[in-house]
Amino acid sequence: MTYAADNGYDKRDVDYSLIHHESKEVFTKFIRSMELQEGMKLLDIGGGYGSVFMNISDLYPELSFQYDLLDSSEKQLGKAKTAIASFLENKRSGAAVNYIHRDAVHLDLPADMYDIVVCKMFIHEIPEVNQALVHQQIFSVIKPGGCVLFWTADLDESDHAFYSETIRKKDELAGFHSFVANRHFLLNTQLETLLAGAGFGTIEKLFDFEYELHTSARLQSEFQGNVQTLTSWHDHILEAAGKLKPEEKKQMLIEVSSSNIHIRFKRAVFKALKG
Ligand SMILES: C[S@@+](CC[C@H](N)C(=O)[O-])C[C@H]1O[C@@H](n2cnc3c(N)ncnc32)[C@H](O)[C@@H]1O
Repeated sequence: MTYAADNGYDKRDVDYSLIHHESKEVFTKFIRSMELQEGMKLLDIGGGYGSVFMNISDLYPELSFQYDLLDSSEKQLGKAKTAIASFLENKRSGAAVNYIHRDAVHLDLPADMYDIVVCKMFIHEIPEVNQALVHQQIFSVIKPGGCVLFWTADLDESDHAFYSETIRKKDELAGFHSFVANRHFLLNTQLETLLAGAGFGTIEKLFDFEYELHTSARLQSEFQGNVQTLTSWHDHILEAAGKLKPEEKKQMLIEVSSSNIHIRFKRAVFKALKG
């Protein structure tokens, strides 16, 4: 088995529902769009601490299905095991949960195995050079008639460069060197091209929703309370924002105060069908 070298996720310990303000409403829409049924097999790639599993089980407590969580970080898998065990305590669940410690670049799983593959805020973790390979492997492990769902950054030409640069600078200042080296945020058009190239037929953007980035939410979780680091991030964001067109700035509703910069980006859910 192979693992991503110098994995920032073995250091990073954040709750995405808090720093990204993930709502139950969006989770519910996301899970309903999976169209899960009894006996299905689901693979959650880059599953982190298992938020997808817990939200599925909240919505369908009785559902009997197989949930495989694959992640390259031992720390994130440890968090998932603890969180899911505690979540399932005193509950009757029909779910079978498996943990796979692996780099998705070397998926090494049987062909046609899963009804559903989920990639929630994961695909940008894959370096550009490996993107096509990962998409091909996702296609391979899905059963004919099955699907992949992406919950991902919703980026077009108007915000892609600004978003990528804002997050890259945060990662650099926070010391997440592997993120700076690896992360590759895709334009929606690039995601669609990669999916079509891997063999997927119908590719659909199901819905989008607002993602309110508040820099202050990262002060403790990523900068260990270092206000100077947050200020450096602010300086960088303001410089990059200065290069945006007026209509782009307006669309992103950039609001600046002494302790926080708020930027309205977007997220979206995409679904692609195999065969
Ligand atoms: C932004 S987190 C998202 C976690 C989870 N899907 C969620 O939304 O709550 C990205 C996850 O992808 C994992 N990851 C990063 N690179 C990976 C790779 N090459 N193979 C497998 N997992 C990876 C990280 O360890 C982390 O848990």
